[in-house]
Amino acid sequence: MDQPWWKRCVAYQIYPRSFCDSNGDGVGDLRGITSKLDYLASLGIGMVWLCPVYASPNDDNGYDISDYEAIQPDFGTLEDWIALRDGLHARGIRLVMDLVANHSSDEHAWFVESRTAKDSGKRDWYIWRPPAADGGPPNDWQSVFGGPAWEYDAATGEYYLHLFSKKQPDLNWESTAFRTELFAMMRRWVALGIDGFRMDVINLIAKPDGLGAGDNEGGMDRALNGPRMRDYLAEMRREVFAGTDLVTIGETPGMPLELAREITDERAPLLDMQFHFEHVDLDHAPGASKWDSTPMTMPALRATLSRWQDGMEPHGWNSLYLGNHDQPRAVSRYGDDGRYRRESATLLMTLLLTLKGTPFIYQGDEIGMANVAFDSITDYRDIETLNAWLWLTGTRGLDAASALAMIRKKSRDNARTPMQWSAAPNAGFSAAAPWIAPNPDYTGHNVAAAEADPDSVLHYTRRLIALRQGTPALRSGRYRLLDAEHPALWLYERTSEMGRCVVALNFSDTTQPLPPALAELPCLLTNHHNPAADTLAAWEARNLGPA
Ligand code: GLC
Repeated sequence: MDQPWWKRCVAYQIYPRSFCDSNGDGVGDLRGITSKLDYLASLGIGMVWLCPVYASPNDDNGYDISDYEAIQPDFGTLEDWIALRDGLHARGIRLVMDLVANHSSDEHAWFVESRTAKDSGKRDWYIWRPPAADGGPPNDWQSVFGGPAWEYDAATGEYYLHLFSKKQPDLNWESTAFRTELFAMMRRWVALGIDGFRMDVINLIAKPDGLGAGDNEGGMDRALNGPRMRDYLAEMRREVFAGTDLVTIGETPGMPLELAREITDERAPLLDMQFHFEHVDLDHAPGASKWDSTPMTMPALRATLSRWQDGMEPHGWNSLYLGNHDQPRAVSRYGDDGRYRRESATLLMTLLLTLKGTPFIYQGDEIGMANVAFDSITDYRDIETLNAWLWLTGTRGLDAASALAMIRKKSRDNARTPMQWSAAPNAGFSAAAPWIAPNPDYTGHNVAAAEADPDSVLHYTRRLIALRQGTPALRSGRYRLLDAEHPALWLYERTSEMGRCVVALNFSDTTQPLPPALAELPCLLTNHHNPAADTLAAWEARNLGPA
């Protein structure tokens, strides 16, 4: 059976603020992206996920939307967006937009109206509750970005819920009028020719029953995967996506594997695929904050991703990622961004592109972009990072150097420094000083240098995408782990009735013997110059046939 288009292609994620600035104001924009269409096409990708480009006061860089149908002026106009859409489509690349519908901006007209009076027509489009008996917040939920998840609003003497910043009030999916308007808005984007939505924290939309004063049991995790989530997603599918071939991609932190499999079951899907968070949560201890890093080990990563590979069989579907705009850079986190930067970046790209699911390459990972180490907190921009700084140096009482060390490891800004196009000033990203400073390593690590070097991560990524696209077993074959115990090698195969492929990854900086049965297989692609048949060099990644 033919697979749907979104199972067959490789996706590329664009964070527009940091991709390319066409008009010299230091902020990436739509025309900047359009100017790089041939570069995107040259990768061999089939889908772009565009992070939010809608009107926003930018408290959370566009994830706080004040008008779902207007383009953020910093990014351009609707005409610019149409030119981008057409340019992608002309190159056979689909365009997936971000849908941020768990919350809006507090500057959205809906919220402005909602907060005016308890009997406002849109009061119940958001989640308002009276104060607790002591006048404090209704319960003790803490927001993801730090501090209470409730904000008092003097105009009506009630609190509103915000799971993220206080400028991101949560929308109330229990309101039929809200859902009707939301779905109508989505249909208007569908009519504009988009190819799908990536849905921000979509498993937070169904809040638990009886939310309000004094229900402190269980904390905010109770907002995850709420009972009515299935109903809302089913209704959305009917109202917006029926009869289309658009893709729906959920961002679903804290969604258990069994539920993810059920929700993406191709026989009756509520979403076509989802991003889980288990592998990006491996480097902090359970219960500890994300800033309290513990080492990321290959065996833990292997166990987690293998569990999701097996667990989504036979009818579910994974979105695959090692980095995105919310995570540190993959090469710095799972690889070695020092001596083995090229080798480990290409190894990680091999992993991403040879697992079962739809791989998402985050902008810059195809040239091995690494974490930044800014000297001062004043160089950071992300609201989560800046709040964490206050918490680490305040409540936690850490000195500045210790707090900065923690932030350098985990800040979302690691992924948000400008795309490194060349060694020109500002990394070739902009004619002006960018909104966030580039990583100073851009002089050596950039697209222009990578184009000129046949061994670069970029050229290897292109070869790998071509291999995946030309090898049915890599696109749709079942995953099977070949050795669950090896301390350094991750060995797996992908098999379908169309063939078999073996992937051998050396997650260490020492040479490792390859099991004899694998040493006999022909090599389809390696990231190493002189591969030895029976060993894998430091951070070597080898794709073995027969295909
Ligand atoms: C998602 C986004 C993240 C944003 C948050 C709130 O996790 O990826 O960037 O801050 O939702 O919208």
